[in-house]
Amino acid sequence: MAGKRLSDEFLEQLRANNDIVSVISPYVELRRRGKNLVGLCPFHNEKTPSFTVYPDSQSFYCFGCGAGGEVISFVRRIENLDYYEAVKSLADRSGISMPDDGYDDSLIVKRKRMLEMNKEAAKFFYKTLMSDRGKEALNYYLNRGYTISTIKHFGLGYAPDSWHGLLNHLKSLGYSYEEIYEADLAKKSTKNGKINYYDNFRNRVMVPIINVRGQIIAFGGRVLDDSKPKYVNTSDTLVYKKSLGVFALNFAKNENDGSLLLVEGYMDVIALHQAGFTNAVAALGTAFTPEMAKLLSRYASEILLCFDNDEAGKKATARALETFGSVGIKVKVIRMSGGKDPDEIIKKYGPEKFRSFITGAANDIEYKIIEQRNRFDIDSSDGKLGFLKAVTGILAETDDIIARDVYASKISSELNVNKDTLMLQINSYVRQRRRNDKKSEIRAVPKITAAVGDKVNPQKTKHLKAAKAEEMLISSLMRNPDFWDKLRGEITPDDFVTDFNRRVFVKLSQRLDAGLSTDFGSMADQDFGIEEINSLKAIEMLSDKLRHSVKECRDCIEVIKAEKLKLTQLPVDPSDMSDEEFMRLFKTTKAAERKKHG
Ligand code: UTP
Ligand code: MN
Repeated sequence: MAGKRLSDEFLEQLRANNDIVSVISPYVELRRRGKNLVGLCPFHNEKTPSFTVYPDSQSFYCFGCGAGGEVISFVRRIENLDYYEAVKSLADRSGISMPDDGYDDSLIVKRKRMLEMNKEAAKFFYKTLMSDRGKEALNYYLNRGYTISTIKHFGLGYAPDSWHGLLNHLKSLGYSYEEIYEADLAKKSTKNGKINYYDNFRNRVMVPIINVRGQIIAFGGRVLDDSKPKYVNTSDTLVYKKSLGVFALNFAKNENDGSLLLVEGYMDVIALHQAGFTNAVAALGTAFTPEMAKLLSRYASEILLCFDNDEAGKKATARALETFGSVGIKVKVIRMSGGKDPDEIIKKYGPEKFRSFITGAANDIEYKIIEQRNRFDIDSSDGKLGFLKAVTGILAETDDIIARDVYASKISSELNVNKDTLMLQINSYVRQRRRNDKKSEIRAVPKITAAVGDKVNPQKTKHLKAAKAEEMLISSLMRNPDFWDKLRGEITPDDFVTDFNRRVFVKLSQRLDAGLSTDFGSMADQDFGIEEINSLKAIEMLSDKLRHSVKECRDCIEVIKAEKLKLTQLPVDPSDMSDEEFMRLFKTTKAAERKKHG
């Protein structure tokens, strides 16, 4: 990011006033472990805590997923903010004022303009719907049973059948083609080297997606007939993340009695709200994600799942049950009959029918048992056995021992089998599951960590030896700045093999030369992205395993240079090299030779 930077003094003041433990505590239940605190990682799903907070260095690290950083990167990640927004929220939190001209606000301005533009677009769609050009679209809504007041409540609209309808309108308001494109309100194509912009949404009824702050962050558009694709939705932009977008949560968050009704389609949601079920929400154009589950769990203690009454809906239900289970929120499953989705049920039989389905909703265990019951013919002994096997598996999955007992009793009397035998079988499954859980959790750790490392430093896998030596050197210097006086001049950024570690080293050596602090908090700033900061934290953590001697650093330097040398091959004809290139090659060769023999 170009432009002005926040000063070190300001950042130091900010960190001093925002103790990392108090910032993290509202999000994670922390327990003391020695000097540090541990809890369940908010960035991935886990059952045993591997998320560690280090009050001493004011940082955190998750041994499960490799997420790590200092207080600013925690806020960035958990609230999905960019660097400046995170700084600003911490400044607000601790009553520190932002330096007047100390930061680059170009991204904030960009996001603000995008939100304003979305609002203008929504107004345009609404006006078009209510104009002559919108007659057919208005009829579509009315035929679906939406009232005018529902249309107004949700801010529904219509995108005209035109390539430049919205584009021309937004242009006239002063937005640039590129801005409109970045908001995904326009697409572009290139023809004969000329870029051509055109409306993304054409001839569709339009539904604005509003976040819990009341900002319009995206749109969904549906065709008026049966053509394909049925829906077009905004893809990810600076203000919208599909994996996080929940439709109508802005309304439902205040209008529920502790439970949210999750359905498949956003048109269903609108019909449900109109019928009085104002706690309905839906994901948009994507499967339900763990992030969404976390978001919902902030606003409700129970989820009522009501996906479509078809095979796809059943599969989605099974997946969502798993997702919610790992987030730890209570779920009930609504089973409908006589229609494929809530919209259809309400239209055919009225809201009361749907309410009766809610009343009859099964908890997740009941739901799974019913699903299995439908699979087997329990009048045959084969079917009975198959069903009992499936049921004991289901009951072994829950940690709720009372539920286990209740359902085991129920089924033993219904099927006339011995309850003790049933419980014996369940308990043996439970032990088996516990063993497997542990195993897969342990297996998952290095995999995730490696993936994070690879993304930030893609050269690492190919040059593992060099990268490890680079990281050890960096780690040791961060912890022991006094070594620098002895080592200065023995290694330069050019010697580094991997680009990411070189960048870290450049920054580190600048700070060392200037006598500035090199602890993790001071190193991790606006020069690095969140994933990079994770890696930086992982590098700092290496220092626990180091011997902390100048000699050890020298060994690292030697390895780095030797590995680099292996890569520096002579071109076929040295006369193709510039003088500088040749000198550099000559220098590294000589230095390495000296090291070897001297
Ligand atoms: P459905 O096809 O079940 O929609 O897709 P629906 O609610 O029954 O729609 P109507 O009643 O025909 O208008 C459910 C959800 O899947 C996503 C949308 O988020 C939709 O709300 N979807 C579906 C798409 O994103 N694109 C598509 O082409 C189809
Ligand atoms: Mn439908």
